[in-house]
Amino acid sequence: MKGRAVYIKTFGCQMNEHDSERILGILSSNGFTEVEEPKKADLIIFNTCAIREKAEHKFLSNLGRVKNLKKRKSNIKIVVAGCSAQLQGEKLLNKAPYIDYVLGPDNIHLIEKIVEQDLSNKIHIEENPLIAKIKFPILRKDPIKAWINIIYGCNNFCSYCVVPYTRGRERSRSSKDIIEEIKLLGENGYKEVTLLGQNVNSYKDDDIDFPRLLEAIDKINGIERIRFVTSHPKDLSINLIKAMRDCSKVCEHIHLPLQAGSNKILKLMNRKYSYEEYREKIELLREYIPKISITSDIIVGFPQETDEDFQKTMQALEEIQFDGIFAFKFSPRPLTAASRLSGTVSESVKSDRLSEVLRFQDSITESKNKKLEGQVEEVLVEEKDEEDFYIGRTRTNKIVKIKDRLNIGEIVKTQIIKGNRHTLEGKIFAS
Ligand code: 5AD
Ligand code: SF4
Repeated sequence: MKGRAVYIKTFGCQMNEHDSERILGILSSNGFTEVEEPKKADLIIFNTCAIREKAEHKFLSNLGRVKNLKKRKSNIKIVVAGCSAQLQGEKLLNKAPYIDYVLGPDNIHLIEKIVEQDLSNKIHIEENPLIAKIKFPILRKDPIKAWINIIYGCNNFCSYCVVPYTRGRERSRSSKDIIEEIKLLGENGYKEVTLLGQNVNSYKDDDIDFPRLLEAIDKINGIERIRFVTSHPKDLSINLIKAMRDCSKVCEHIHLPLQAGSNKILKLMNRKYSYEEYREKIELLREYIPKISITSDIIVGFPQETDEDFQKTMQALEEIQFDGIFAFKFSPRPLTAASRLSGTVSESVKSDRLSEVLRFQDSITESKNKKLEGQVEEVLVEEKDEEDFYIGRTRTNKIVKIKDRLNIGEIVKTQIIKGNRHTLEGKIFAS
């Protein structure tokens, strides 16, 4: 049937954003177009996140808002997909019986059966060992930058993290499929690829590991920049650092979540590295790739985190001088080991620690950005904003606003004229 409309709302990480592109890929091959309002849709999809309680609350309040729509127009189908779908399963249907289908991340391909009206069971949260083999049609919104999934799932079981329970065990895609996909993107004018996985360093397809995959992608015509997220510090090998240095298209940026500066907390988190080991990896990265920018994730208020432990996180920020961080208050998640730990930290202490961390990092980021004033950087122009500024990123992943006339998709040598807290301002560099 042609001419139907879908509304999709995505919560969470880039992996989820990309899953939505794949859901939309299937739907557009089945005659659906995307609409911006649920009331205009025949199919409503929530692609959910479960990483923190707040993400689940946001989804539940969005879900509540479509309940009346379903009452008025009973042929609308409501699908809950993604990590919260996987985690809550049946409970979601008990809470909101107006949901038609619940699809975990391993089962999003079933959207095709839903729109063909031949899917009888409402809940699909079984692990799918073959997910990495499915070739999805993908509806990419960005014409310049593309996400590519290279590995699904996670085997790490960090004690705070729900992802191993929502996205199952690690499964790598075949390197042949990945390379074919990226070659096609290069032929179609894409300039940048971001390789996605909960832990890209664990990528393995026969004798192709992650550094070798980077080397192969580096040779693909048309693609100018290669990025990847996320790396686990324990698996960051010297071979990967060397591949980053030697592959000219791999950008000088790494997101390397530290989580905490105290070894006691890192142990309770089951991170499998000490702060000293993490520091050594940072030193190696900076030795081999002097221009590299390093960003990180920090959790504050993990169970049993004392003031002294927290000060170790602050000290780590001081010592490492990250280019930027994402920081979160610990949120206990179902099934995880940390949710059963004693020594809960109060909400007000968590809030204080979060603002302290963010304030301190802001000052570091700002002074690092100031140091870039006068420097010349390569910027990939990505979009134009409402104020007629062109917005792009440096290879080190810093956002630059440029007033000159440019074309989206071009790479321009840009002189940084001002370093602000969150962005840089630049102008075309005439050499
Ligand atoms: N509470 C708070 N933050 C969390 N993260 C993962 N699980 C939790 C949790 N239960 C953070 C980690 C991770 C990032 C994606 O989200 O810092 O690196
Ligand atoms: Fe992404 Fe994790 Fe949220 Fe799932 S739970 S959407 S993997 S951040």
